Amino acid sequence: MAFCINPIIADVLDPPTGETRAWVEAGPRNSTLNVIDAAQAVPAYPPAEALRQHLSRIVQEPESAFYTPILGLSDLRKELAHDLSSEYHANINLEHVGIASGGNHAFCTAILALAAPGDNVILPEPFYFNHQMWFEMQGVDVQHLPCRETDRGMLPFATDAEALINPRTRAIVLISPNNPTGTIYSKEHIHSFYELARAHNLALIIDETYKDFLPTNEPAHDLFNEPDWEDVFVQLYSFSKVYSLTGYRVGSITAGGRLMAAISKIADTLTICAPRIGQEAALFGLRHLSEWRSQKNAELQARIAILHRAFAEHSPPFPLVSSGAFFAYVKHPFTGTPSLDVSRRLFDDLALLTWPGSFFGNGQEDYVRLAFANAGEADIEEMVRRLSTLST
Ligand SMILES: Cc1ncc(COP(=O)(O)O)c(C=O)c1O
Repeated sequence: MAFCINPIIADVLDPPTGETRAWVEAGPRNSTLNVIDAAQAVPAYPPAEALRQHLSRIVQEPESAFYTPILGLSDLRKELAHDLSSEYHANINLEHVGIASGGNHAFCTAILALAAPGDNVILPEPFYFNHQMWFEMQGVDVQHLPCRETDRGMLPFATDAEALINPRTRAIVLISPNNPTGTIYSKEHIHSFYELARAHNLALIIDETYKDFLPTNEPAHDLFNEPDWEDVFVQLYSFSKVYSLTGYRVGSITAGGRLMAAISKIADTLTICAPRIGQEAALFGLRHLSEWRSQKNAELQARIAILHRAFAEHSPPFPLVSSGAFFAYVKHPFTGTPSLDVSRRLFDDLALLTWPGSFFGNGQEDYVRLAFANAGEADIEEMVRRLSTLST
């Protein structure tokens, strides 16, 4: 007799990333082309040299090996509160901020604190698959809110969400800039969801993992200025992307005191604290790398401009539905063909590694996601050129 696997976990979809990794291991059919990896959202650059030097010094100190307080080093919480306050023109203080072991961990703890099994949440579709997986693991029902194609990208609408709310709805989850579509929600759009959440006593969770990659310095929203934001809004952030710290596991939650108290219990039980070395890296980033942060954003914006130019020049039969931050969401021309087969063909024939729309939910078979931030500037142009050569 073998032991049982918790059926709830067994039923959760497998991390889809394994599938495309297997293609890479086997190699593309067309081996004359170099593989352009536009699959996973990882920065194409190493962490700043100064940060690496700082960490190599800091690991020599015995204290660096020890636990920190549950919600993180006070200096880091203070620094992040200050940073967010200036970014959003708001008054955020240390008590509002908790440090998590990455953006995913921040999300998981927030959901655990907000929703019980049998409750439900509203999740726009396409979704970030780890969000969906966590809900399934928690027995939290998901009410999918289909996004609509608009001239401002793929958008969920508060008016559509309202019809999904019932007495067991606990939260609405948004991501902006969005993964997988790249769509950046306007202030007004975000505000419409805030109004809806407030009217129905729901939490509005916004995953702002990609907030360092906005095209302007304007605050992404004004929710931190709402007098009752602590009763409605939960902001999630990740230090993984802009500072290229994906392996150090550090992110944050910014919320009101009631939620932070619940999250403390969960975070203590799960990890006791976020990795200290990751926290030190984040602290160094906030204190010393603001110019680096702007520069990395400028580089990404330049890539987006190259992407747009290349689409205009080569006119591939893959209309660009939406783009921003690390991602472009394109519609493929093979109507009726599963998006996984399309991605497979892009890999085999063009050595282009993409993720199919089906990784991101129902109704996504017509789409493919390009995580172009991974690719260098020349590769972005080449990627679009190759798309334009695919015979339909
Ligand atoms: C929307 C979103 N949230 C969270 C994460 C995970 O961030 P972290 O590495 O900090 O866990 C990602 C990573 O791709 C993401 O796209």
